[in-house]
Amino acid sequence: MGTTTTLSQKTIEIVKATVPVLEQHGEQITKWFYQSMLSNHPELLNIFNHANQKQGRQQRALAAAVYAAAKYIDQLEAILPVVEQIAHKHRSLGIKPEHYPIVGKHLLLAIKAVLKEAATDEIINAWEEAYQAIADVFIKVEAQLYEEAASKRGGWKDFRRFIVQKKVKESDVITSFYFVPEDGGEISEYLPGQYVSVKVSIPGEKYTHIRQYSLSDAPGKGYYRISVKREAATADKPAGIVSNYLHDHVQEGDVLELSAPAGVFTLDMSKETPVVLISGGVGITPLFSMASTIASRQPNRQVTFIHAAVNGNVHAFDQDLRRLAEHPSFSYHVCYQSPSEEDRKHPYFGKEGFIDLPWIQSVVSNKEADFYFCGPIPFMKTVYHALKEWGVSDENIHYEFFGPAGDLTK
Ligand SMILES: Cc1cc2nc3c(=O)[nH]c(=O)nc-3n(C[C@H](O)[C@H](O)[C@H](O)COP(=O)(O)OP(=O)(O)OC[C@H]3O[C@@H](n4cnc5c(N)ncnc54)[C@H](O)[C@@H]3O)c2cc1C
Ligand code: HEM
Repeated sequence: MGTTTTLSQKTIEIVKATVPVLEQHGEQITKWFYQSMLSNHPELLNIFNHANQKQGRQQRALAAAVYAAAKYIDQLEAILPVVEQIAHKHRSLGIKPEHYPIVGKHLLLAIKAVLKEAATDEIINAWEEAYQAIADVFIKVEAQLYEEAASKRGGWKDFRRFIVQKKVKESDVITSFYFVPEDGGEISEYLPGQYVSVKVSIPGEKYTHIRQYSLSDAPGKGYYRISVKREAATADKPAGIVSNYLHDHVQEGDVLELSAPAGVFTLDMSKETPVVLISGGVGITPLFSMASTIASRQPNRQVTFIHAAVNGNVHAFDQDLRRLAEHPSFSYHVCYQSPSEEDRKHPYFGKEGFIDLPWIQSVVSNKEADFYFCGPIPFMKTVYHALKEWGVSDENIHYEFFGPAGDLTK
């Protein structure tokens, strides 16, 4: 890795010894850090998701990653799998090496501000060195990802202009957008499960907004398709900015900017093992892409597709899944939280309420299968704990968060 040798034993000791102190003040430090960084560098508001900031999800994710890395500061290769996932997100957002010193400077200022006199020069210097070592790892991994994205056939490096070729309603709340490049060139292949970042400039808004959307169709069709759920306002939450803008204002013929496909939540097509795909709500998008890809490229692979939705009105891709289920190796099971009379007649309706382990066991015969799941966080926690309780091994459990990664184990 090249970075580990440059840190002195003393620095390593200080950093390791102070991680628990920083963790204890974690939230305070990261709040301070973001406020300081974003007020000094408002241009970064073009990149950071404002809603994730307000809810503290991003603060927690970044802080947790820095402290986790610091614990392994003398063996940073141990954190490479985690770095990989974050680096994909960073590459997709357009994070560059020149951004790292900005984050480093404000992180150190925040540590000083919160720890006050406890933050001695020795401690600050050690953390400065440690941050540099961690940043070097990210920068290196991200440089490779930029290079890969650009050098692929039909690939590109940063954002590229795409025309909305087609806009299709999939359910009461989910609408698909089909994109083709404005330059008329080729587009790169992707692995089912990957996402793109979409950058929008909303008239009247000072900053651009970037969001990730999983590619919801199988690759190789000459377009990228995303399927977006409208995040409507509720009594305690404002309407989601980008999803509502896409639903209400983006029409066929409009141009949006997309970065190249990214992400590590991908179907392993080198395997022929049975696959269980479990989705909740709009979490169906990456899993539908996987199902559709298996149907065309590995038609004899055993697939169990389980979808949970509130009811039939908000259930996307149902007709497509019914068609896939005509194949003998594909089984389809639907769980509705509040089914209508009509919903109960769905040929694959199997459960009312929420997914639970007994029901999963009743429809999945093989716990040695690979399990992929995605959906709202409470749904993901339920599925994760059910699979663990059943004894599914960790290496067969794969999942994606539709936001900064969290921890399902608690
Ligand atoms: C890898 C990945 C893949 C994804 N794939 C998909 C996909 O296929 N389809 C899809 O629809 N989405 C997907 N998402 C989610 C998507 O990126 C967006 O997060 C989603 O569309 C909401 O964006 P928004 O701009 O509409 O809402 P935002 O404006 O970002 O708000 C997000 C939520 O926060 C709430 N909120 C905002 N401000 C506050 C506040 N002050 N207090 C409390 N709550 C607040 C909003 O009400 C909303 O519910 C994916 C995300 C990731 C990370
Ligand atoms: C070593 C330094 C860094 C670490 C450890 C780190 C860590 C993280 C983590 C854990 C996430 C959440 C990933 C996920 O699960 O989706 C994240 C996302 C992100 N990071 Fe970093 N990061 C670092 C540097 C940077 C820099 C330099 C920038 C740019 C200024 C940046 C911008 C972002 C943005 C914009 C997101 C997406 C957040 C959102 O949803 O708004 N990061 N980072």
